Amino acid sequence: MQEVQRLASAVVLRVLAGRSLDSEMAVLRRDHPGLSAQQRAAVQDLCFGTLRFLGHLDAVLEALLDKPLRDARLASLLRVALYQLEFTKAAQHAIVDQAVRACERLGPASAKGLVNAVLRNFLRRRPQLIAQARHSDVGRFSYPQWWVDKARRQYPRHYIAMLDAGNLRPPLTLRVNRRRTTMAGYLAQLEASGVAARAIGEAAVLLDQPRPVADIPGFAEGLVSVQDAAAQCAAPLLDLRPGLAVLDACAAPGGKTAHMLELADIDLTALDSDGARLARVRANLTRLKLTAHVVCGDACDPGSWWGGRTFDRILADVPCSASGVVRRHPDIKWLRRAADIAQFARTQARMLDALWQLLASGGKLLYATCSVFHEENQLQVDQFLERHRDARRLILPRVETNPQQPAGQILPDERHDGFFYALVQKN
Ligand SMILES: C[S@@+](CC[C@H](N)C(=O)[O-])C[C@H]1O[C@@H](n2cnc3c(N)ncnc32)[C@H](O)[C@@H]1O
Repeated sequence: MQEVQRLASAVVLRVLAGRSLDSEMAVLRRDHPGLSAQQRAAVQDLCFGTLRFLGHLDAVLEALLDKPLRDARLASLLRVALYQLEFTKAAQHAIVDQAVRACERLGPASAKGLVNAVLRNFLRRRPQLIAQARHSDVGRFSYPQWWVDKARRQYPRHYIAMLDAGNLRPPLTLRVNRRRTTMAGYLAQLEASGVAARAIGEAAVLLDQPRPVADIPGFAEGLVSVQDAAAQCAAPLLDLRPGLAVLDACAAPGGKTAHMLELADIDLTALDSDGARLARVRANLTRLKLTAHVVCGDACDPGSWWGGRTFDRILADVPCSASGVVRRHPDIKWLRRAADIAQFARTQARMLDALWQLLASGGKLLYATCSVFHEENQLQVDQFLERHRDARRLILPRVETNPQQPAGQILPDERHDGFFYALVQKN
């Protein structure tokens, strides 16, 4: 456990210095090839959990210290150990003992005494410390204060459920490839393999227990893909028919690209500005035996890649704050700054304006974000409609999970990531 704690606290430290959790997990795999799959999973679990509840853990830690810790590595180790003590079932004495040993490699001998004292003190005063930490917004919700304030302002009736949903462990949802199998056929295959699951949508299957893709029946053969239920709403909204020219303007890693191709024989261009991520689009298409024109280019600058033929449908699944998917990426809560939201909104507006020129008359553009913030969603669309008098917003029949939300807004809940969709048609 000591090595796992030490590695996890190093990852958390680097994330708090600005690195993404995904890239740090990749570095861990590269630099520690000797770790067993179980150890790697344990490190991952500690990193995700610590970042998920970081605001709370920091409030607890602050109450346990006379003055703030100057050694960031020590603080990171204590956060990880506190996460284990409060949120996991590991034996308490082992957590404390191993954290003290892990600290031996970090600093002066006095640090060992401090780690021991802080963790034992937590165990003695646990209920009081937890209650006290929950008095502040950051300690209660484990999001930065600006995020809680914005959520409260924009969703006065739902922000608590929304923020709490962002701290859940995400479910594993599959999309059944209806070109290759049927929902009933695939559910029967899962049952025969002893995998408990249920259908939660036309093509969406929720597994009772998440598992690695290598252990998902039919995954390698292309019968299913991993895709959240809210993300699965995109492709059916585009009313796809054989022969339509479709642009997926921000395609990587290709989840929605593949879904569109599974629904109809369309002529699809999959564009993304990130060449490395486009490799994942190609890999997904190969696994699913689908084809598209895969293009590396900037959606804000079509002149550099566009051949001049207009598209009947455009999916603009734009880069955004990703504030709707923090349960899958808890580092986002601590890496984003309040000012980032306006910056994302400016880029999204530029992208929408550029893409609008590529849409055929009568064609439809689906704007999508995995954000919950109005600036990137309904305000963005309202401003777009002001700028483009030839655009008309269409009513979305199926995505509203809660009629009290603004149109097209799906808030994160047990089954869905937070997503936003707006469909506009060109006159
Ligand atoms: C939300 S992700 C897309 C997810 C994808 N649609 C899916 O369902 O798998 C946003 C993508 O936009 C890409 N992107 C960012 N800026 C871009 C630009 N200016 N032009 C094209 N793609 C861009 C990013 O590389 C990223 O892959």
